[in-house]
Amino acid sequence: MTDRIESVAKKAIFEAGELIRQHIGQVAGSWVQVKGPSDYVTEIDKRCEGLIVEAIRNNFPDHSIMAEETANNGLQQGYTWVIDPVDGTTNFIHGFPFVAVSIAVCLEKKPILGFVLDPVRNELFSAKKGEGAWLNGSKLPRRKEVELDRSLIATGFPFRTRQYMDDYLKVFKSIFMRVGGIRRAGAAALDLAYLAAGRVDGFWEIGLKAWDIAAGALLITETGGMVSDFRGEENHLINGNVVGGVASIYPFLLEQMKKYLLPALETQR
Ligand code: IPD
Ligand code: CA
Ligand code: CA
Repeated sequence: MTDRIESVAKKAIFEAGELIRQHIGQVAGSWVQVKGPSDYVTEIDKRCEGLIVEAIRNNFPDHSIMAEETANNGLQQGYTWVIDPVDGTTNFIHGFPFVAVSIAVCLEKKPILGFVLDPVRNELFSAKKGEGAWLNGSKLPRRKEVELDRSLIATGFPFRTRQYMDDYLKVFKSIFMRVGGIRRAGAAALDLAYLAAGRVDGFWEIGLKAWDIAAGALLITETGGMVSDFRGEENHLINGNVVGGVASIYPFLLEQMKKYLLPALETQR
């Protein structure tokens, strides 16, 4: 079963990636709609999602689908495909070449397969539960320890939850003062894949959705990294608060989340 799922997922992700590659930086006007503050959807997001959903419906009609633009019924029992057709839509619109397609397949609400494609660099990050992770078919090594003051940490700004900006800036400052560097590149699924691939050493963001996280989180755990919500629990696909890192960095990042962000999030502003 997983082999067939894998081949359907790979074919669909490359088709979506090709559409993104052809149109990055080229969409404007009526092709772009505003969903909320700094939050956009384009015709290409919809076409990518449409072709992935069609591939699933044609091949696995009994599987559930959770997809950003059309189908958000949450994770179901059995198989659920979790899809972000264009992760980094703002980058895509501006022609900033850091975008991805993310597809995860969950079984009983836990990711068992994950795919994150960067169509610009033609890099496919993939992971299979219990078997490891790959970049363009080459096995990714397990992540080694990194010293905190030499680490590179990725993050995302809370642009949909601006009420947390002051708390976010406190955690940002506290982390910034201790690490080697911080990056905000603008596509969470790719940030998580970069953590698996050894290009960054930690990540945190408030209020993501399951389609931003599911594939990347499996990539991280399959390369020996750690990922959780801000309590250190495995509810990040549900509450969208994600902190991850290599084993030597994750405890520090989690401690900062507990100190600066968890109290604000738990008073539900
Ligand atoms: C967004 C990107 C961004 C992150 C946002 C996400 P989208 O996804 O991953 O890096 O900061 O929280 O929503 O909307 O471009 O699919
Ligand atoms: Ca996304
Ligand atoms: Ca998206």
